[in-house]
Amino acid sequence: MPVEFISAINVNQSNELNRLRRFEIDLPFFKRYARALDDYGFDYTLVPYASPAHDPFTVATAITQHTERVKPIVALRPNTMYPTVAARQLATLDQLSAGRAVVHFIAGGDDHEQAREGDRLPKEQRYARQAEYIEILRKVWTSTTAFDHAGTYYSFEDFVSVVRPVNGTIPVSVGGSSPDAYRVGGALGDIFGLWGEPLRETREQIDAVHEQARLAGRSDRPRIWVTFRPIIAETEELAWEKAHRILGVLTDSGGAAGRFARFRSATPANVGSQRLLAAAGRGEVHDRALWTAPAKATNAAGASTALVGTPETVAAAILDYIDLGAELVSIRGYDNFNDLIDYGRSVLPLVRQELAHREATGRRGEIVSLDAGLDQQDLVAAGATVVAS
Ligand SMILES: Cc1cc2nc3c(=O)[nH]c(=O)nc-3n(C[C@H](O)[C@H](O)[C@H](O)COP(=O)(O)O)c2cc1C
Repeated sequence: MPVEFISAINVNQSNELNRLRRFEIDLPFFKRYARALDDYGFDYTLVPYASPAHDPFTVATAITQHTERVKPIVALRPNTMYPTVAARQLATLDQLSAGRAVVHFIAGGDDHEQAREGDRLPKEQRYARQAEYIEILRKVWTSTTAFDHAGTYYSFEDFVSVVRPVNGTIPVSVGGSSPDAYRVGGALGDIFGLWGEPLRETREQIDAVHEQARLAGRSDRPRIWVTFRPIIAETEELAWEKAHRILGVLTDSGGAAGRFARFRSATPANVGSQRLLAAAGRGEVHDRALWTAPAKATNAAGASTALVGTPETVAAAILDYIDLGAELVSIRGYDNFNDLIDYGRSVLPLVRQELAHREATGRRGEIVSLDAGLDQQDLVAAGATVVAS
């Protein structure tokens, strides 16, 4: 499978650097954003879930009606919808989008946030319920005769759906960094989502997921999704200056915490955030360009580690994770819309060119830009991936 890129949709211009006190959808902006995802080469866009926010299914449907190619990844918390309903909603979205639906399961990292919508199960049971939920979805998508289900969390009789996914099924993603997440995602996920940790720790997590796939008797493995917040600029110096300006805003405003300001002090309940903070505790910069300071400033409320540098440095850093086995690379900035365009003009082409070069020559290139004062012909002959600076 080719390496693919994931973005994340915004329904209005509010973001961590420019937090607007308005929550309604800015339709012209939303349409422009959705189309830019197609135009700048993104393959997927996450439609995240948070209890106060717009409904991901509705937003995903709208994305597919304003685009041709990008696939919406609907974030779904099992406590919010009965599985037979979710199965048909996803299959309906899939038919409306000519087979572009993807679902990402959220077990829910915080009991308080879960209780906001009546979910009082402890996290390990939320993962057990998620496993049963995924099995029901797959059965509803494929069963052409009515069936009964008698499980721990769900039971129903004589149910059949006539709404089929376009390609017979819909990719199922599971995210998280706890042993329960590895177990459920390794056994049942087509995709496994991770937040951006250093290379060594990411290797460990990928191995843990693969081990659970093996223990579940699978012959295949989930595709690995890694998530970063790239901060790019013409030169390394400019990129780090920009990074520290962003950090200043995140620190002052509490970044993504915002309404969840109480997150800022408390130790996050979810393992994924705890691991990001642990990485921040071990050092601010890891490997080629991973910067953990934004995670520290926001108490790692979600995807909060950055890759900082020129587009070439960030592309090379992303290739390091691809070398580890990542196939889905989620990159979203802080100035979301403009960063999406910047990445589409630089980082995505750089990574794709290098992968095409490796495919064609079996050799690794070296990502350099022309402003390194080198001669283009010599560079190409030497197998380098060259971008016009
Ligand atoms: C790539 C990715 C995307 C996620 N998106 C969301 C989201 O949209 N809404 C949400 O509440 N949690 C989201 N999460 C959180 C997890 O799905 C997870 O339920 C939670 O962090 C518990 O994880 P743990 O097993 O690491 O403790 C996401 C996690 C990952 C890795």
